[in-house]
Amino acid sequence: MFLEVVFVIVLSVGGSLINPGTPDLVFLKNIASLLRDECKKEPIGIVTGGGAAARTYADAIRKAGGGEFQADEAAILSTKQNALLLIAALGDVAYPLVCRDFDEAAEASVTHKIVVMGGTIPGITTDTDAALLAEKTGAKRLINLSNIDAIYDSDPKKNKNAKRYAELSFEKMLELASESDKRTAGTHFIFDLVACKIIARSKIVTHFIHGRDMECVKSALAGKKDHGTIVK
Ligand code: UTP
Repeated sequence: MFLEVVFVIVLSVGGSLINPGTPDLVFLKNIASLLRDECKKEPIGIVTGGGAAARTYADAIRKAGGGEFQADEAAILSTKQNALLLIAALGDVAYPLVCRDFDEAAEASVTHKIVVMGGTIPGITTDTDAALLAEKTGAKRLINLSNIDAIYDSDPKKNKNAKRYAELSFEKMLELASESDKRTAGTHFIFDLVACKIIARSKIVTHFIHGRDMECVKSALAGKKDHGTIVK
């Protein structure tokens, strides 16, 4: 059975916020407290990334002789472990299981205000999972929380003159993501190319903000202009 259920907001929470090396319980407590308030107004779908644990396990799988598919499968388990951590911090407003797919997430929203999932299939990232969840559920806003405060035209850590965008069109974002995709390994755009294509084809307004700046997260949840980048 599929019910037409809408998450007004889908949140993509970077794994490096939840687990930069060891789980960040202060971050979890802060974000959970904010989301518990916010979900009284509208239902929220969340996708969590894998962070340091995903990279450690994927690398170990490769060194142990495993292939890329297996490395992705291990990394997906890390995204799900982070999802469970967030569910624990959220308490009874959250559906108690980590949803395995988009249908389960949509159905779980009938009984719970907040639904959390991790990764789904090898070969993609949780950016794409979050974009797909937003697309499927007709979300009004996708909010990407990471440890970068906005979208830049180049890496601000390497280039002092990197241009910071307050607002971007879908087309310009796709251009930046495609340019970055062509560069050598190690360059990394804030959102992967498939995820960019999905938000562009369905015109999903997407906020890119620093996930540890709780005032900024609050403002993005309310759909207000915030301190990051809005793509629309
Ligand atoms: P992410 O790369 O999405 O997590 O997933 P993250 O920690 O938020 O990423 P950063 O820090 O922003 O880069 C971690 C890994 O899990 C696998 C991929 O290997 C991905 O790199 N994954 C995730 C999948 O294979 N499928 C999914 O659906 C999600």
